Amino acid sequence: MKAIQINEYGDESVLNYTDVKRPEPQADEILVKVQAASVNPVDWKIRDGKGEDFGMKLPLILGADFAGTVDEIGSSIKKIKIGDAVYGKILLGCYAEYVIVKADELSLKPETLDFENASSIPMGALTSWQAIFDTAHLKSGQKILIHAASGGVGSMAVQLAKAKGAYVIGTASGKNKDFVKSLGADEFIDYTSTNFEDVVQDIDVVYDTIGGETHERSFQVLKEGGFLVSIVKQPSEKLLNEYKIKGGIIASVPNPKQLEEITELVEKGQIKTEIEKVFPLSEAAKAQKLSKEGHVRGKIILVP
Ligand SMILES: NC(=O)c1ccc[n+]([C@@H]2O[C@H](COP(=O)([O-])OP(=O)(O)OC[C@H]3O[C@@H](n4cnc5c(N)ncnc54)[C@H](OP(=O)(O)O)[C@@H]3O)[C@@H](O)[C@H]2O)c1
Repeated sequence: MKAIQINEYGDESVLNYTDVKRPEPQADEILVKVQAASVNPVDWKIRDGKGEDFGMKLPLILGADFAGTVDEIGSSIKKIKIGDAVYGKILLGCYAEYVIVKADELSLKPETLDFENASSIPMGALTSWQAIFDTAHLKSGQKILIHAASGGVGSMAVQLAKAKGAYVIGTASGKNKDFVKSLGADEFIDYTSTNFEDVVQDIDVVYDTIGGETHERSFQVLKEGGFLVSIVKQPSEKLLNEYKIKGGIIASVPNPKQLEEITELVEKGQIKTEIEKVFPLSEAAKAQKLSKEGHVRGKIILVP
């Protein structure tokens, strides 16, 4: 099968579009024919060298989000059938014509979406679910500030928080104002012209998808007892204590039950998708370059 494989860490030039052996499912595994894979920042972070920190062994096939059709199943797989249209989030292997996944790493794809749009959802939606609901315990009526509300993660977070009944404030640059409002955000802050801490306060939950000084400036907008949940940086214990707030960082994990609930929201029209650009798999280098520039609206998709 064709795949994008790396044999060393480095820039886009280490991405090889090459022939590799098609994997065979073990008893508890499912072989999915990938119809679309979305690009996530973690893909190029692993490529740049994070893979080594994560203890990964080269060569690696990148790619964490997939949508496709079940091609083969192992002998102990019960609920999933050959031919089912599925989607999910793993960590590696999706930049390929076929990928091996476990039964608890996928769900049936929303019937209302094609494969490209379906592949744009799992990482962003599962990460946001686990950050804002499981970790920060966002409740109906609470105020949440979502950084990078136009990105792959933030765009899902805005819609999940709205579905929960929260009051949502999203940040991005001005060109994304209409998009973020169309996702349901109650307020929009253009980070290129306004410091969010000058215009918001008494926030219940800040969702930090940016890190750096955005993370540092986020403590001061939270109300006492509020929650700073990050997916990129561990909040400082000292500052959490100083501001009398709670906080933490999460690393998202596959969760088929949550993905089924997300599927329901998609099918009810409460979550929509946004695709910035679709590339053939062979052009993964161009796709990752665009992702790394940091201004994608929604997701970039690769099609094998
Ligand atoms: N811990 C985990 O489990 C986990 C899971 C998923 C992702 N992540 C991490 O979370 C981060 C975000 O991921 P993503 O997929 O959402 O990235 P992304 O889609 O590439 O984010 C791009 C968006 O960020 C916006 N943006 C850039 N700088 C901004 C700023 N200073 N303030 C507000 N918005 C800004 C851009 O809007 P403009 O074009 O308008 O600037 C753009 O729409 C990445 O670092 C990723 O690795 C972690």
